[in-house]
Amino acid sequence: MIYAGILAGGKGTRMGNVPMPKQFLTLNDKPIIVHTIEKFLLNNKFEKIIIATPKEWINHTNDILKKYSIDLPVVTVVSGGTDRNETIMNIIDYIEQENGLNDDDIIVTHDAVRPFLTHRIIEENIEHGLRNSAVDTVIPAIDTIVESTDETFISSIPRRDYMYQGQTPQTFHIKKLKELYGNLSVADKKILSDACKIFSLSDEKVKLVQGEIFNIKVTTPYDLKVANAIIKESIDK
Ligand code: CTP
Repeated sequence: MIYAGILAGGKGTRMGNVPMPKQFLTLNDKPIIVHTIEKFLLNNKFEKIIIATPKEWINHTNDILKKYSIDLPVVTVVSGGTDRNETIMNIIDYIEQENGLNDDDIIVTHDAVRPFLTHRIIEENIEHGLRNSAVDTVIPAIDTIVESTDETFISSIPRRDYMYQGQTPQTFHIKKLKELYGNLSVADKKILSDACKIFSLSDEKVKLVQGEIFNIKVTTPYDLKVANAIIKESIDK
């Protein structure tokens, strides 16, 4: 079965002094998270679309789903975890409890705060997710990436044509992710903030899907301005 996991368990601290986590802030006329959920609802391949939010925001999320008429049987809200990977694992625990886990089950995970993903990106994540253990959505690095291990001097400058910027969705074979994550030490779990890194460090291939430059993550107040400009541009077209 194919599941979607919408990761909305964060607090959005880099957004500064706002009354609610950024996934609930309004973009154009509706909350960011609603834009994101609607993209997933356009694809009928999902057995279930599971949204994970901070525990204290579950009621609010359900209210929003009602308000925007997306409180559908295919959509469920669960509690997020202490970090992003724990949020993914909470979603997987829910799936396991409800339906059990089959060998060929996959999950398309996506940041709730990336409302501009496209149908193509979701389709390609599903297509390649069914054939690979893991899939990452990326765009070629625009700027040269400079590495510094001491915050003072350059330690290396990798070839730009080998560099990509990670976006989401990231898609995983659920059983494989659960197994690899379960093998990590508590210390490793802290360091491995990116779920695809768990696969690549275990020498598991991670297939690349091409993202879009506009598939931005709303992280700071500046990103919110950019997101509003992207929406306005698409309306004016
Ligand atoms: N996320 C999550 N569970 C967590 C932490 C993050 O589901 N425990 C989600 C966020 O809600 C967001 C996505 O992961 O949709 C990307 O994370 P990020 O932009 O870092 O979000 P926050 O952790 O909310 O932001 P900040 O780091 O500024 O606090």
